[in-house]
Amino acid sequence: GDGVFKYYSSGEWKKSSSGKSVPIINPTTRQPHFKVQACTQEEVNKLMEEAKTTQKSWAKTPLWKRAELLHKAAALLKEHKVPIAECLVKEIAKPAKDAATEAVRSGDLVSYCAEEGVRILGEGKFLVSDSFPGNERTKYCLTAKIPLGVILAIPPFNYPVNLAVSKIAPALIAGNSIVLKPPTQGAVAALHMVHCFHLAGFPKGLISCVTGRGSEIGDFLTMHPMVNCISFTGGDTGIAIAMKAGMIPLQMELGGKDACIILDDADLDLAAANIVKGGFSYSGQRCTAVKVVLVMESVANALVEKVKAKVAKLTVGLPEDDSDITPVVTESSANFIEGLVVDAKQKGATFCQEYRREGNLIWPLLLDNVRPDMRIAWEEPFGPVLPVIRITSVEEGIHHCNASNFGLQGCVFTRDISKAILISDAMETGTVQINSAPARGPDHFPFQGLKDSGIGSQGITNSINMMTKIKTTVINLP
Ligand code: NAP
Ligand code: G3P
Repeated sequence: GDGVFKYYSSGEWKKSSSGKSVPIINPTTRQPHFKVQACTQEEVNKLMEEAKTTQKSWAKTPLWKRAELLHKAAALLKEHKVPIAECLVKEIAKPAKDAATEAVRSGDLVSYCAEEGVRILGEGKFLVSDSFPGNERTKYCLTAKIPLGVILAIPPFNYPVNLAVSKIAPALIAGNSIVLKPPTQGAVAALHMVHCFHLAGFPKGLISCVTGRGSEIGDFLTMHPMVNCISFTGGDTGIAIAMKAGMIPLQMELGGKDACIILDDADLDLAAANIVKGGFSYSGQRCTAVKVVLVMESVANALVEKVKAKVAKLTVGLPEDDSDITPVVTESSANFIEGLVVDAKQKGATFCQEYRREGNLIWPLLLDNVRPDMRIAWEEPFGPVLPVIRITSVEEGIHHCNASNFGLQGCVFTRDISKAILISDAMETGTVQINSAPARGPDHFPFQGLKDSGIGSQGITNSINMMTKIKTTVINLP
């Protein structure tokens, strides 16, 4: 055909009547690699109607049948991991090995979700009235979890497959229908994932995938009257969406500024390894990346030397070659990162390496002696640039962490576990990792952002539950 990937609606792959397409720029070559349809509002209305209609019969489909179809989709995702990974390499410059891992991890998430859904949706509560003062045992209360209806799923570019299925699978097992709006960068990987669900044989119209720039079609989707819930993962765009959404449940996972607090009794080799893995994996383009190191002055020189030595071993280059550091997703992202570096330079940060950029490729950069007046102390680069702030007390570290508008994850390195627990309690973040870098996985763990990092909680069980509502039936005895 015309080389433009079709969108998915009514169980078919379709061309948009808009006649327009959106280019997907390969971050490495900075040339268009794929094109997807720019769908119209009429096309959105049609697929919303179908999502609403098919959801009614899907909700009546036996739970074990819903689970069976999800297991089929999971197996297909794993079978298709090579072409899906290839898309991730070309669309978001994800290193080839990490790209294949994302596809397999997604299959595992779908299967686990099917099993968990059968467990937690297969049981309800039975209450009797006389447990409350003044009541006789004349009322029996049955409670059940029922689906919300149409779920709008909007994942980000850095996990266009895994963070899509982390919304799609819980929605479907709970009896909802799903409308997916994938990120432009990563859209074809997402369409390939949708094809796995298509091949699994889900009812036509139950799942649809609409493509088009979020800035163009996004508001029409998030404010659509037929949407009963929005599950969004991304940047501060989510805050604008939350302001416009109506009376519907929202699940939001937004940005992060995950702090890594290093105490003077920390295992510095363990800490350095986790700072490099946590700060530079996928070139720092992870919400859970280590984004600021708060290290006790007494061990700071030793730690910085260890981190520098490991940074020097990172490979920089093509995602096809499995390089550790690959080009960041867009030129605008690279420019934003550069702005933070220039600001830090002007304000006197210590550059542990020379700043180096070629196109979207930015060499890993450790900034020492960062001060709170520097933007990099607070802003999220979403790139391979990591600030180190030296602290003279634990309280100073906790204060910096809690002064952030973000509250996703954090981590603390110390050999004193009871002290670690107290620090974890004091950090206003959704999760604290003790003696390891922040991470969302494994995907059945609860995953939530506090403050500007999100609304509600993800992780398979919490996602299933938030995509249901409670129905009670009270039997009144004579
Ligand atoms: P983004 O620019 O906010 O985009 C996220 C998604 O929203 C994309 O699918 C995007 O589509 C869509 N979108 C854009 N404008 C929209 C609108 N007005 N209405 C509806 N949808 C709209 O974020 P990103 O660049 O993909 O990801 C980077 C950011 O996401 C970082 O801040 C990172 O911290 C955050 N993130 C958070 C988590 C987490 O779990 N907390 C995970 C990953 C990423 P288009 O691509 O077409 O614009
Ligand atoms: O991008 C934020 C989060 O989804 C990253 O997941 O498993 O790399 O910590 P993970």
